[in-house]
Amino acid sequence: MLKETLINATEAGAQVIQHYFNNKNLQISNKEGINNLVTEADHASEKAILEIIKKAFPDHFILSEEVGEIAMDSEYKWIIDPIDGTINYAHGIPLCCISIGLEKAGSMIMGAVYNPFLKEFYFAERGLGATLNGQPIEVSGETDVRKSCLVTGFPYTYINEPNGPLDVFSRLIRQGIPVRRLGSAAIDLCWVAAGRFDGFYEHKLQAWDSAAGFLMVEEAGGKVTDFTGALYSPYQPRIVATNGKIHDDLLLWINDKV
Ligand code: IPD
Ligand code: CA
Ligand code: CA
Repeated sequence: MLKETLINATEAGAQVIQHYFNNKNLQISNKEGINNLVTEADHASEKAILEIIKKAFPDHFILSEEVGEIAMDSEYKWIIDPIDGTINYAHGIPLCCISIGLEKAGSMIMGAVYNPFLKEFYFAERGLGATLNGQPIEVSGETDVRKSCLVTGFPYTYINEPNGPLDVFSRLIRQGIPVRRLGSAAIDLCWVAAGRFDGFYEHKLQAWDSAAGFLMVEEAGGKVTDFTGALYSPYQPRIVATNGKIHDDLLLWINDKV
């Protein structure tokens, strides 16, 4: 029932975002900052997702990007990003997805990420592995950061501190290491899980950006931590997610210890 609801809710959100995609009259407004957008499709996707989850589990806790917390006294918490990659979406770039993670007693137990434009449905369940369209996926075998293909993202507001996003990015690209920037953290994580990227890092994510994707990486055999190498929590901003083999070295690069 939990899995069925997760899949149904993810698909319902995806239907909505397909409906509004490339609509020239899409209503777009700003959150904080001129580039932090929210569209009517984000709200409509969220509504469709919440309807399904609330109908199946009216007592569960919900944390969803646009409505915030629907607090309940429950060990289950659904963590929802109704469109991850909104800027891509608003520009007709088909790199965006629905991301939903399900936590039980503080541990992420299931996650789904669906990009309906590429027809890629990622699903993970704790202890049971990760799949792409039903087929098991695993992280890459690369062992050398210098030979890796990495991905990152940048926050909407500049982080002015040592080893901020531009410092780390510059350090890596000065060595000729490819670092892509797709614009959807959930897809970045799934593509690490699928072995397309060897690693992903980002300085400032919210729980809904990473909840499903970090479980995907772990279940595909990878490793996810914060920038100190400590066990990952989606409730703090920093993330390093890799195939496991380059993890310690990538942390050295990020922390300027190479
Ligand atoms: C954003 C994307 C992006 C990341 C930003 C997020 P949104 O989510 O995941 O890749 O760099 O930090 O806010 O706003 O498109 O849901
Ligand atoms: Ca997001
Ligand atoms: Ca979003």
